[in-house]
Amino acid sequence: MEMNGDKILQVKQVTKHFTIGKGRILQAVNDVSFDVKKGETFGLVGESGCGKSTIGRTIIGLYNRTKGDVLFDGKNVHQLPERELFQLRQRMQMIFQDPYASLNPRSTVREVISEPMEVHKLYKTKKEQNERVYQLLEEVGLNLEHANRYPHEFSGGQRQRIGIARALALDPDFIIADEPISALDVSVQAQVVNLLKQLQKEKGLTFLFIAHDLSMVKQISDRIGVMYLGNMVELTGSDSLYENPLHPYTQALLSAIPIPDPDMEESRERIILQGELPSPINPPSGCVFSTRCPFAMDICSREKPTWQEAESNHFVACHLYQDKLENKTTTEPVVRIR
Ligand SMILES: Nc1ncnc2c1ncn2[C@@H]1O[C@H](COP(=O)(O)OP(=O)(O)O)[C@@H](O)[C@H]1O
Ligand SMILES: [Mg+2]
Repeated sequence: MEMNGDKILQVKQVTKHFTIGKGRILQAVNDVSFDVKKGETFGLVGESGCGKSTIGRTIIGLYNRTKGDVLFDGKNVHQLPERELFQLRQRMQMIFQDPYASLNPRSTVREVISEPMEVHKLYKTKKEQNERVYQLLEEVGLNLEHANRYPHEFSGGQRQRIGIARALALDPDFIIADEPISALDVSVQAQVVNLLKQLQKEKGLTFLFIAHDLSMVKQISDRIGVMYLGNMVELTGSDSLYENPLHPYTQALLSAIPIPDPDMEESRERIILQGELPSPINPPSGCVFSTRCPFAMDICSREKPTWQEAESNHFVACHLYQDKLENKTTTEPVVRIR
């Protein structure tokens, strides 16, 4: 029997296709599976357009799924009656990349943060609600004088703090942070990451942390899943991913991270991927990465690699390791670049 007591979220073979003009199908997410354990931060990484936000929106029930199941605390998000989904939504919140776009410019900070409280009718009196707003402002490093000001009066980092306070307003268990630091200056990114980590510790929050590159994700994630063109290609603990990346796409992503030490930076081997990112409307046959993979073999464009546990708790979808598993010749990864 599968133990799922420690899993707050189970994404099971989820596919999300969009029908776009003229009956064409855009394959935004294909057969993606992962679990998120209570209290952990799961990093979801991949370049722009690979389907990260679509997965986030499908998890919270904003999109229906084409195939597969999303279980939150064992409940199937897409099969719940509306009333129950509304209650479940209170426990899952999202933080977005651009808080300015997601905050109504005509609303004061107080209104922005108290809106979800009003929707869910959390407090009987304005006084109680206001007290909670002030408390939240302090928790995210702002203060009560900020309550009557407007989002445009704040810096990018402060606006993200307002977005975080709003996400915390319903006291959720699970937060999807969709590229929450991508639009911020590097100096501010670390502050926001530290705030998220601190809030996680204090409140026992679980995070799905979405990013388009691997540079800041390691600091915050316990485990990381790497996506390419709607597919999950690799999933393992964050140390394991950085020390022993198996998938050639992960290796390329890692090679793109600048190293702070100038000598090491000079000798850093960058893997530049050839060719263009294919379209999810007409994805390559076989392995979706085969058209750009430096190690592509004949089989790669013919057969889709299956999702396999190549090493303990280290999953990868790549023919390089499938051969290895079938022949059982060696336990060493076939490719090691770093
Ligand atoms: N509502 C939608 N309708 C049609 N296509 C969409 C929609 N949302 C996203 N897409 C497409 O799905 C793919 C994945 O998008 P998205 O999930 O936003 O990627 P990411 O967040 O990784 O940048 C992209 O090709 C995008 O254009
Ligand atoms: Mg996105």
